[in-house]
Amino acid sequence: MEIGCLNNYPRVSLGHSPTPIDEMRNLSRTLSRNKNNLSLLIKRDDCTGLAFGGNKVRQLEFYLGEATAQGADTILITGAVQSNFVRLAAAAACIAGMECHIQLEKRVRNTSEMHSQSGNVLIDKLLGATIHFFPEGENEQGADLRLEEIAHSLRADGRKPYIIHLSPEYPPLGALGYVVAAQEILSQIAESSFTIDEIVVASGSGATHAGLLFGLRSSGSIIPVKGVCVRRTKDLQYQRIVMHCAAIAKLLKITNPVCNGDIELSDDNLAPGYGKINDAVLEAIKLSAHQEGLILDPVYTGRAMAGLIQRARQTNQKKTFLFIHTGGQPAIFGYAADIEPLLAVG
Ligand SMILES: Cc1ncc(COP(=O)(O)O)c(C=O)c1O
Repeated sequence: MEIGCLNNYPRVSLGHSPTPIDEMRNLSRTLSRNKNNLSLLIKRDDCTGLAFGGNKVRQLEFYLGEATAQGADTILITGAVQSNFVRLAAAAACIAGMECHIQLEKRVRNTSEMHSQSGNVLIDKLLGATIHFFPEGENEQGADLRLEEIAHSLRADGRKPYIIHLSPEYPPLGALGYVVAAQEILSQIAESSFTIDEIVVASGSGATHAGLLFGLRSSGSIIPVKGVCVRRTKDLQYQRIVMHCAAIAKLLKITNPVCNGDIELSDDNLAPGYGKINDAVLEAIKLSAHQEGLILDPVYTGRAMAGLIQRARQTNQKKTFLFIHTGGQPAIFGYAADIEPLLAVG
């Protein structure tokens, strides 16, 4: 089914899709309270293929599509030091034959040497990105403004920069990647024997969460989507998802099918803040590794899995959850100094 003018947007093919939906049998058994009442499924968007994969590959297909259509030769993007989006933008730029300037923001305080050198940062360097630093991790508009300044000087040198903005005032073009992913999930459900009662996904910039919700509702699906807050409280995140859904409707030139009541969020596992590990996140990372051989990251998917575990433990009835694995694994090397000492405990 075609949703609005989705197919009119230029896209560059970057990833593998459809990504598989697998069963997490061991975790389902362990977390079931009532005779195997749980079926926990996982959508492997960590397997999108490009440079360790992840959700941002789907989003970048649209950004790179627009950049190519505009004749750009340089991609500019901003993100946290251990940003997966930035790493994947650098990889996408390589494929498109473009240069990439990345701006790394100091979002997490008191980090180790490894945090600024290893994991995604090492891969950014390997991909040949030009790295800039921005000290204010909570200043999205300021970070975008700084990108505009870099773009200005690139233009003066005769280059054609394309900026992937961070702040929510800009149209969330990348969210269209998850409108497409929602259709993919619905096709996979239609072709299989399972039904899904609830989807659980990390909610950061909100592009993935909003795109998924929009894609489901515009295709007539009422599957609830639980967004797990990784960056800001649920009240703030709620406003952001409302804004993104309205903006997606505008991009697609259709009526927004998402009601405010559709936007479900939990910030129960947000403390002590973005990029900081808590006990529930550590448990989620350890349990997923030990039971499923599944690697999660401490910033996004570990927190989202902590949200899934919490939901699962509250459930007595028969229920099928679909967890979206959005990738992020390279970050564990950047966070090794935080994770390793905790592994030794208990
Ligand atoms: C691995 C991973 N998962 C989830 C997210 C959250 O996605 P979004 O920013 O679209 O909410 C991000 C964002 O960078 C991410 O890198």
